[in-house]
Amino acid sequence: MPSTKAPVSRFVCSECGYSAPKWLGKCPGCGSFNTMQEELVKPEEPRKSRPAVSAAPSRARPLSQIGYEKFERVSSGIEEFDTVLGGGIVRGSLVLLGGDPGIGKSTLLTQVSAHLARTHRVLYLSAEESCAQVKMRCDRLELNSDNLYLLNETCLEDAESAMTEAEFVVVDSVQAVYTEALSSAAGSVGQVRECASRLMRIAKSRGITFFLIGHVTKEGALAGPKVLEHIMDTVLYFEGRQEENVKLLRAVKNRFGSVQEVGVFEMTEAGLKSVTDYSEIFLSDSRGSAAGSAVTPSESGNRCMNVEIQTLIAKTAYGLPRRMSLGIDYNKLVVLIAVLEKRCGIPFYSSDVYINAMGGIKLAEPSVDLAVCAALASAASDIPVDKYTAVFGEVGLTGEVRPVSCAEKRVNECVKTGFRRVVLPAKNMKTCEKFKGKIELVPVSYVNQMIQALSLRSPFNPQA
Ligand SMILES: Nc1ncnc2c1ncn2[C@@H]1O[C@H](COP(=O)(O)OP(=O)(O)OP(=O)(O)O)[C@@H](O)[C@H]1O
Ligand SMILES: [Mg+2]
Repeated sequence: MPSTKAPVSRFVCSECGYSAPKWLGKCPGCGSFNTMQEELVKPEEPRKSRPAVSAAPSRARPLSQIGYEKFERVSSGIEEFDTVLGGGIVRGSLVLLGGDPGIGKSTLLTQVSAHLARTHRVLYLSAEESCAQVKMRCDRLELNSDNLYLLNETCLEDAESAMTEAEFVVVDSVQAVYTEALSSAAGSVGQVRECASRLMRIAKSRGITFFLIGHVTKEGALAGPKVLEHIMDTVLYFEGRQEENVKLLRAVKNRFGSVQEVGVFEMTEAGLKSVTDYSEIFLSDSRGSAAGSAVTPSESGNRCMNVEIQTLIAKTAYGLPRRMSLGIDYNKLVVLIAVLEKRCGIPFYSSDVYINAMGGIKLAEPSVDLAVCAALASAASDIPVDKYTAVFGEVGLTGEVRPVSCAEKRVNECVKTGFRRVVLPAKNMKTCEKFKGKIELVPVSYVNQMIQALSLRSPFNPQA
């Protein structure tokens, strides 16, 4: 029975969902500042009191008596999407796809819907765009299916019957739909949380698979309370720079697979295409002929990719030298510049330093340190690093090269992609002995040894 009481004003934390009757500067729930937002909430009816003895109480069962449940997986038709999900879409699961505006969230899920609609009934609930807009996109992507149903609706209650008829439902977006149970505006913390839990109940009770599209905040986190991520089975982030066509799909939570996987896509006129030849995206043609670039095998999930790091060093025009970094942590760059200055005598104090990881990828692993140092030393000495040489290893503040994880996999990737030499931490040599004969292995213990091995000595770089 709907509540008969008038709605009341509450202040709800956008981070954790904590609610208070008054505005507070600091949330008592999670300690965040300035996150309490006003909402109108209908007061809940008091629960009917339980009978003293329940007719059928829930019983716990021993582990041995629990049967197996088989998770049926369906292919999305996009190889990279399947990989990130852990081998296909699990029936009855809830998948949240977050990303910046215009990155291609709707495009990706339209393509997935059209593929699924070949064999299943699919509903695309478009709360942001009209059905005509979605149809125009389908025409541009040359997608057509009679099993793909479109609905332009923002009220979840009105869309429920259409949802329960489908096997797969796409909600575009979770911030644009609302439930009548709450009187606050669509997109508010309470609405997003309530809509998501309603969809979860439908998904789990009827075995319908839901894909929810979510917007991200300025800081890059999914808009709405963190509880939204807790409800989901899988949370995916679609990222990439606007100016680059390459988009990366990452799983940040997955109840049915690894969260290490990365899917690489290219945005074209005909939609998103899976990229399997990474060298075209992450390596440049000028490699080996221009100074300032080095290649490193980067590991993410079950996949290893060779990525080029490019640096540019220019004379500082004003007092303070600038450091600009794209794809590599800024603090890491500053630390590695200090290591090169102090331990190898390469001066950067009067130079602006720019660094970029090719293809818009973010390299967060410590194993990229040595390649960043190689690229910087190459730019400082104006001597290119050989085209067929890859570099990896973590660099400590004393200038030592520390071992990294998955060294074997990294060297194997270099062998596969035609590299002839790998500079690697000496302590990783033991696991890589088997590659001797296939590729030249150059073990190093200090940054200076790497600079010597790559012949990056010059008058600017005398101590190397
Ligand atoms: N004709 C076209 N040719 C090539 N690319 C296009 C074309 N039309 C749109 N795009 C690409 O599609 C992107 C928009 O995709 P989409 O609408 O799927 O993004 P979205 O993440 O759903 O955005 P929003 O957050 O606004 O809903 C554009 O940024 C553009 O790169
Ligand atoms: Mg969209």
